[in-house]
Amino acid sequence: MKITKICCIGAGYVGGPTMAVIAQKCPHIQVTVVDLNEQRIKDWNDPNTENIPIYEPGLSEIVAEARDRNLFFSTDVEKAIDDAQVIFISVNTPTKTYGKGKGMAADLKYIELCARQIAKVAKQNKIVVEKSTLPVRTAEAIKSILDNTGNGVQFQILSNPEFLAEGTAVTDLLSPDRILIGGDTTPEGEDAINALVEVYANWVDKDKILTTNVWSSELSKLTANAFLAQRISSINAMSELCEKTGADVSEVAKAIGMDSRIGSKFLKASVGFGGSCFQKDILNLVYIAKSYGLNEVADYWEQVIIMNDHQKRRFSNKIVQTLYNTVADKKITFLGWAFKKDTNDTRESAAIYVADDLINEQAKIAVYDPKVSRNKMLSDLDYLQTRSSEENSNALDIFNDPYKACEGAHAIAILTEWDEFVTYDWQKIYDSMHKPAFLFDGRNILNVKEIESIGFIYKRIGS
Ligand code: NAD
Ligand code: UDX
Repeated sequence: MKITKICCIGAGYVGGPTMAVIAQKCPHIQVTVVDLNEQRIKDWNDPNTENIPIYEPGLSEIVAEARDRNLFFSTDVEKAIDDAQVIFISVNTPTKTYGKGKGMAADLKYIELCARQIAKVAKQNKIVVEKSTLPVRTAEAIKSILDNTGNGVQFQILSNPEFLAEGTAVTDLLSPDRILIGGDTTPEGEDAINALVEVYANWVDKDKILTTNVWSSELSKLTANAFLAQRISSINAMSELCEKTGADVSEVAKAIGMDSRIGSKFLKASVGFGGSCFQKDILNLVYIAKSYGLNEVADYWEQVIIMNDHQKRRFSNKIVQTLYNTVADKKITFLGWAFKKDTNDTRESAAIYVADDLINEQAKIAVYDPKVSRNKMLSDLDYLQTRSSEENSNALDIFNDPYKACEGAHAIAILTEWDEFVTYDWQKIYDSMHKPAFLFDGRNILNVKEIESIGFIYKRIGS
């Protein structure tokens, strides 16, 4: 089967960039991205592509090239499903906040809604692709819904997890390490796999397109995220030991990373990992292991999360201790609120938890982030439900100018590794602050000697 029409349900951080790249690389395929969120679709259709709802370097240019040529954004979910031969499901799968598995399991209600809607609308055979990250064996549930509530047409379910990282989504999509496609080993399943392979083969080397059974594909995604996050928790665990012993975690990371068996990536000690994926996916993995009675497996992976929570708390505690055990009424400036640089996403950002701890200590938090809006920061804090919205809004002062944000501050905390922070006039910032002036670098991005020679009391992670 030659694919000429694709639909993607979910116009978020995965659906939007992924489909934009497919459309750019496959001008012969019509790609329609649909979402229930009308504002989000309106923003994707903004005539000025600088205003699309997701900030990713290089994305607005791709959208400008493909949109209204063969890339469309719409709220008409049913029409798009009806038209397409292949339907990608890229909706969110957050941690459950209620009922069985609360706080651990993935909430699959949006996935089930999609499956039911596809079943209702489809009048011809379709390939349904799981692009969202899902617990192993979800394809079984999707297939059951499709087969039992559909119109008698045939569905093939493929698992095609997405490995892009935010901030580098476009380059990750253009040059992926691999594309993973899982499907049934029946002739129909193999035909569906081959059809999707041919879509990616428009720009990805066939050697990099790996095909497996559905369950291996589903589980590989959770495993990849668990391994990546585990590296960060491992180096963060060593960072605490470094602080006690005089070792420097950057030197340790470099030394171990030169061992080709270990490798140098994902060894940056930090205030803790954030983002919408790592915590959610590991909790889900822990839940799955427990549900099969594999308690040792579950405990092993849960430790990655425990270590990450500890690292965030340790950072806020360090600020309080260093500022003579009280931050009440002191101005502490956060540089960065996003969970990493080059994204406007703040989901699970360490900044939120550090701010919450410091506000509990009655600090006044000033924040500057080049891409995150005021409303987003406030809603992130409100979401924790620690205090009222009014109290959060009184405790958080948000600035568009980093120099103004730092004026009169007792301390600065770097929470995101935005490149621009390194280029600031740190002497000017120092001169405008309360003395002694403290600088807590949660990302280890500044030059120790330079910063200390200005007069800052400078605290890095892991040294
Ligand atoms: P997101 O919240 O940014 O986007 C999901 C979108 O789906 C939302 O706009 C929502 O309105 C829409 N939606 C939900 N139910 C719908 C329905 N029934 N019909 C139409 N639209 C619906 O989420 P995301 O970050 O893009 O993540 C999506 C999935 O991809 C998740 O499973 C996630 O784990 C996975 N993933 C995310 C990343 C990442 O970096 N964000 C990377 C790899 C995989
Ligand atoms: C992650 C995976 O990398 C990606 O493959 C998957 O598809 C989705 O989840 P993402 O969360 O977007 O991507 O960003 P990532 O670069 O993995 O960073 C996650 C968090 O870890 C960030 O807060 C980042 O700052 C932190 N991190 C990363 C570290 O603290 N140290 C590191 O060495 C690397």
